[in-house]
Amino acid sequence: MLSIIIPTYREADNILPLVGRIRAALEPAIAYEIVFVDDNSRDGIDARVEEVVRAGAPVRLIVRTDERGLSSAVLRGFREARGDVLLCMDADMSHPPEAIPQMFQTLQAQQADLVVGSRYVAGGSVEEGWGFYRWLNSQVALWLARPLSKVRDNGAGFFMLPARVFKLGRDLNPIGYKMLIEISVKCPCQKVVELPIHFSDRKFGQSKLSTREQLLYLLHLKRLYDYKFGWISRLVQFCAVGLSGLVVNLAVFALLRQFSIANGVAYAFAIWASLTWNFIPHRYLSYDPKARQPVLPQYLQYVLHCLAGAVVNWMVAIPLALASGRFDGHVYLAALAGIGAGAMVNFVVWRFLSGTISDEKRNA
Ligand code: GDD
Ligand code: MN
Repeated sequence: MLSIIIPTYREADNILPLVGRIRAALEPAIAYEIVFVDDNSRDGIDARVEEVVRAGAPVRLIVRTDERGLSSAVLRGFREARGDVLLCMDADMSHPPEAIPQMFQTLQAQQADLVVGSRYVAGGSVEEGWGFYRWLNSQVALWLARPLSKVRDNGAGFFMLPARVFKLGRDLNPIGYKMLIEISVKCPCQKVVELPIHFSDRKFGQSKLSTREQLLYLLHLKRLYDYKFGWISRLVQFCAVGLSGLVVNLAVFALLRQFSIANGVAYAFAIWASLTWNFIPHRYLSYDPKARQPVLPQYLQYVLHCLAGAVVNWMVAIPLALASGRFDGHVYLAALAGIGAGAMVNFVVWRFLSGTISDEKRNA
């Protein structure tokens, strides 16, 4: 049996036409159930579901009141599904129900672990009139997730997998919109098939894809990178953040020197400025988002963690710049040497601390 999981938030107007199209596409050839997972929309969806049930459609409605979010709704539906094949699709008819039989047959005939209704393989398409901004947004999102998954349309919300593969998944703990990426990283999806679909625009209701969801997406990706690539992922993030701090450090140092402030004092300020600058990404990248603390105490704790690196930085740079003939007139080179030494100390401290900060594998 096929379980069709459909997350909904304020989609009441789509229920009747959507169920109608699914019935027309599947009956009587394929045994199926539809499970709507609704996040307490209170828009009359229950009455619409009752109506289709009375008309003989195999439909269930789960209403969640304790949680919100597309991915977690899908996860809930997958867990409560009774079928041995699971399908996820949107309620707004962007995903054509007419493609389901072919996806189902492909899954069985090719013994696939994952079948994706894909916009970005030959023959796939999106509704015309996607503005440049929406297109670019979608492309950047796809590109950022490339190393995580071999699915071309890794942002798709229309995909099918055997319940067996889903149950073998470990540590499923998605945030935000992209359940497919979570699945392709954490479930054993060896054989992936993508079938082209046409992605249409919704006719009723509104999209819920907000800026907040896009920020959550970045956070979700970061967690999956850490999960899949471990310390390498952390090292890359650490270097990216560090590099931006380096620029701030040298810029502040140069600025203060313009005012004839003594090197030692100017450099201490420069270190503090770059450290404070780096706090912002660290607040989002290194600390557990669920246990987010107020800014000030967290900042003070962070400064404490950076103290050893900062002291080493200063102790390398300033004596070099002042005392060594070699660095005469090359204060910025001396600063770079200090930054290098400080960064190494910081990395050791942060690696040691990362066991006590966010470690998804441990939390899951
Ligand atoms: N339960 C629940 N909770 N459902 C939600 C929530 C939520 O917080 N947010 C959105 N949904 C449901 C919507 O009701 C809809 O059925 C589906 O998830 C997709 O939401 P849309 O708001 O229509 O999103 P979209 O069209 O921007 O995004 C879709 O297309 C993207 C590709 O462009 C989704 O399929 C994405 O997964 C996909 O990446
Ligand atoms: Mn949509």
